[in-house]
Amino acid sequence: MPKPKVFVTRIIPDAGLEKVKFHTDAEIWPDLMPPPYSVLLEKAGAAEGVLATLNDRIDASLLQAAPRLRVVSNFAVGFNNIDVPAATELGIAVGNTPEVLTDATADFAFCLMIGAARRLIEGERAIHAGKWRTWEPMGYIGVDLIEKTLGIVGMGRIGFALAKRCHLGWGMRVIYTDLYPNTAAEKELGAERVDFDVLLAESDFVSVHTNLTDETRGLFNADAFRKMKRSAVFVNTARGPLVVEKDLFEALHSGAIFAAGLDVTDPEPMSADSPLLSLPNAVIAPHIASATTRSRNAMAEIAADNLLAGLEGRPLRSFVNPDVESRRRKA
Ligand code: DGY
Repeated sequence: MPKPKVFVTRIIPDAGLEKVKFHTDAEIWPDLMPPPYSVLLEKAGAAEGVLATLNDRIDASLLQAAPRLRVVSNFAVGFNNIDVPAATELGIAVGNTPEVLTDATADFAFCLMIGAARRLIEGERAIHAGKWRTWEPMGYIGVDLIEKTLGIVGMGRIGFALAKRCHLGWGMRVIYTDLYPNTAAEKELGAERVDFDVLLAESDFVSVHTNLTDETRGLFNADAFRKMKRSAVFVNTARGPLVVEKDLFEALHSGAIFAAGLDVTDPEPMSADSPLLSLPNAVIAPHIASATTRSRNAMAEIAADNLLAGLEGRPLRSFVNPDVESRRRKA
């Protein structure tokens, strides 16, 4: 039996890649940079499965031009790079890698929170610039975390994991917005579900964990920043386009909010001359919240399992569009 033909758009950890190589006829894109869209189109057009990353635009045109494609396995929990309704319509299974990066991402959100609150990067930059002249009684005064209010926008797995750290470790009050109540967070942490405007007005720290959709794109704009406390710290480890970056720049520059910690930007990569990089109160990382050995190995395993399951017509270990199953069964 010939092995199914698949296209893997980047080198991922062996924990998953070896499985893919063993069970499939895999072409693996070897470069650091993702394949250009034209290459993706051509490769997907001939493949039965694609293992993609969040850099790969898997849109309706690409899916329609791939007559043999049965599964797209995303090496990420987010899947805003994939047109899921189009995939479902075409009977193509879509998988993602939730849960295994929850702790790594929550840890990193906390790292950005405390790094921005305590002006870590500003201090580090000053040392590099030869500006550390003495211990300053009045220098680098930041904000405390202890017993402050944390506002979580999107109380899913990662938001909950961050809220746990902050409530159990730092005694923080937790408020949140979400389409649905999170009863576990309410019971275990006393978290309170509030309106978005209340969250903005009452939070000392606002951390974003919501999906990027048409409704949430640009959610953090000038109006939102205006409603936040002047002492507030804003953190985004979800997706860059949730934030209007020029409005965030204004808010940070004018002192409308105290600081921000970002792991995601719009666009990615951020340009080296982005105005945000010139600010002392913006801590910015290159989308690395899930970058730990444990998380990335586990993501690779799930992505491989999803790919293989999709090729064999089995339910995916983590299914973004399980309704594709019934469509296939009916077909
Ligand atoms: C994801 O998985 O969606 C993250 O953004 C990268 O790990």
